[in-house]
Amino acid sequence: MNDIDAPPSDGPVWTIVLAAGSGRRYGAHPKQYELLGGERVIDRALATCRAAADHVVVVLAPGEDATGERLLDSGAADAFVIGGAERSDSVRSALAVVDEDAAVIVVHDAARPLASAGLHAAVVAAVHAGADAAIPAVPVVDTIKRVRTDTTGELVVGATLDRSELMAVQTPQAFRAEVLHRAHVDATDATDDAALVEAIGGRVVIVAGETTNIKITGPDDLAVASVLLGTLG
Ligand code: C5P
Repeated sequence: MNDIDAPPSDGPVWTIVLAAGSGRRYGAHPKQYELLGGERVIDRALATCRAAADHVVVVLAPGEDATGERLLDSGAADAFVIGGAERSDSVRSALAVVDEDAAVIVVHDAARPLASAGLHAAVVAAVHAGADAAIPAVPVVDTIKRVRTDTTGELVVGATLDRSELMAVQTPQAFRAEVLHRAHVDATDATDDAALVEAIGGRVVIVAGETTNIKITGPDDLAVASVLLGTLG
């Protein structure tokens, strides 16, 4: 893995926007199509990616081809693909259409519509500065405990983790293109792409995340995001 420390080459930035989730946790409607400040969550996420990247690929759920065609027609994305069963499958679907000359690949969840253009720029800059990957993270404010089910069937505390060592990780996450491709060669699944880069020995650096960059998971998050939107410039 000698080349993992090689500096990234200059070249185009491609952003993959993941919107192929079924929204099972949200309820009946996939969260990415809910309205936020009069704009769909997916459109808001795509607009920021469009401003921050050279090329944008959006990953949609099966049956959303008409949505994809509309996004191409409007210029919101350069390409769309249909995603897979797990998040990492969806990333791999998009990697298949990223040009070989891509230098940096950014992966962003459409479910985070409030990530700023500045945050996209910061993770890309960290990769240009030599990191294999750069991810935004914010300090954990809650006390986090590892839990387990005991012999009575009750959920009990196993351990209290040292909060000073923990951070909550967000997207957009930026990668040297070659490293992200390599991390996805073994078709494993992870809740973020950085975990796959860690697994192949890549150096993942942290940039300051944004507390406003929440993930829309349930209806409460949409209400919070609406309020946050009003506070953002
Ligand atoms: O489910 P979760 O909230 O972790 O999803 C994170 C992002 O990944 C969402 O934007 C979702 O649309 C996307 N996703 C995907 N393909 C899947 C699962 C999730 O594109 N199979």
